[in-house]
Amino acid sequence: MRRIRYHSYGSPEVLALEEAPVPDPKAGQVLLRAEAIGANFVDTQLRRGMAQTELYPRPLPRSLTGDVVGTVEAVGPDTDPGLIGRRVAAASEDAFCDLIVADARWLVPVPDGLDAGTASALPVAAPVALGVLRAGRLAHGETVLVHSAAGAIGHLAVQLAKILGAGTVIATASTTAKLDFVRAQGADVGVNYTDEDWPEKVRLAAPGGVDVVLDAAGGEVLRRSLDVLAPYGRLVAYGAASGELGSIPVTDLFALRSVTGFSLIAAQAADPERAVKGLAELTEYATQRLLRTAVHARLPLTETSEVHRLLESRAQLGRILAVP
Ligand SMILES: NC(=O)c1ccc[n+]([C@@H]2O[C@H](COP(=O)([O-])OP(=O)(O)OC[C@H]3O[C@@H](n4cnc5c(N)ncnc54)[C@H](OP(=O)(O)O)[C@@H]3O)[C@@H](O)[C@H]2O)c1
Repeated sequence: MRRIRYHSYGSPEVLALEEAPVPDPKAGQVLLRAEAIGANFVDTQLRRGMAQTELYPRPLPRSLTGDVVGTVEAVGPDTDPGLIGRRVAAASEDAFCDLIVADARWLVPVPDGLDAGTASALPVAAPVALGVLRAGRLAHGETVLVHSAAGAIGHLAVQLAKILGAGTVIATASTTAKLDFVRAQGADVGVNYTDEDWPEKVRLAAPGGVDVVLDAAGGEVLRRSLDVLAPYGRLVAYGAASGELGSIPVTDLFALRSVTGFSLIAAQAADPERAVKGLAELTEYATQRLLRTAVHARLPLTETSEVHRLLESRAQLGRILAVP
């Protein structure tokens, strides 16, 4: 089978297509034949040798993470054989392959007729979007600011904020095309956060302040987001697409503002039952076509370098899929 890996850090050209043996699913695992693979922005940072921590080591040679939609071809020992033949979605640390091994516990059954793009969001992008809104304790009618809202997770967070009863949803992005896109996803207001005065524009749209901010840009965007929070407002940090996590002085929180964080891995470990309920809730929204993933591009597996070039160009409206 074919697999994408990299043996050195660097530009998208380091991504190489290799022949590899078909992996053997172990106990609790399944083998999936991929139909589509959703790409993750974080892999562009990992590929450049960034975003590694002691808790998240990524030694070379390295595979790409991704969210796979596919059909179960085989199961490991002591794993339900009834899964064979099922169409499912799963996150994988070695996802850009023809055949993928995935953890049976976190397989998401894909309803008949659901498009591959939306199905690809069910294991990670949609649970993160839902998780950050819940971590921000969004209440009915509250104002939400979604940063990087045209991205794979961001555009789902805009849709989910509305589904969960948010009042005004303000969405930021870096281009006019992206701002048109986020409004089409349900945002009431679009603000270009590459403009120096973006916080003033947010305050114009939300004179009383924003109740919940969702941020995965980090750095300066994170720091300046505190200034647009309403009293008792909550900022949820969940990534650092800018390459800088950012830091906040504790004294800045005295104005009745709080900051929290979210990691899907931590949420699944802390309360697996709640995480599984979240997957069922999201699958229901997707089945009802309330939640849809916009697919910006669909490229063959052989063009994974191009997938990464697109992600790094910051052009994507929604998600990019690779197809074996
Ligand atoms: N906490 C978790 O459990 C978890 C899980 C998965 C992913 N994440 C994080 O969530 C974030 C979004 O992931 P995604 O896959 O949905 O990516 P994405 O939003 O599709 O792509 C990243 C976006 O970040 C924005 N961005 C802001 N500053 C940037 C900069 N300096 N350089 C490049 N891009 C910049 C860009 O949008 P604009 O052009 O509009 O600025 C870009 O399109 C990532 O930071 C990822 O690491 C967190």
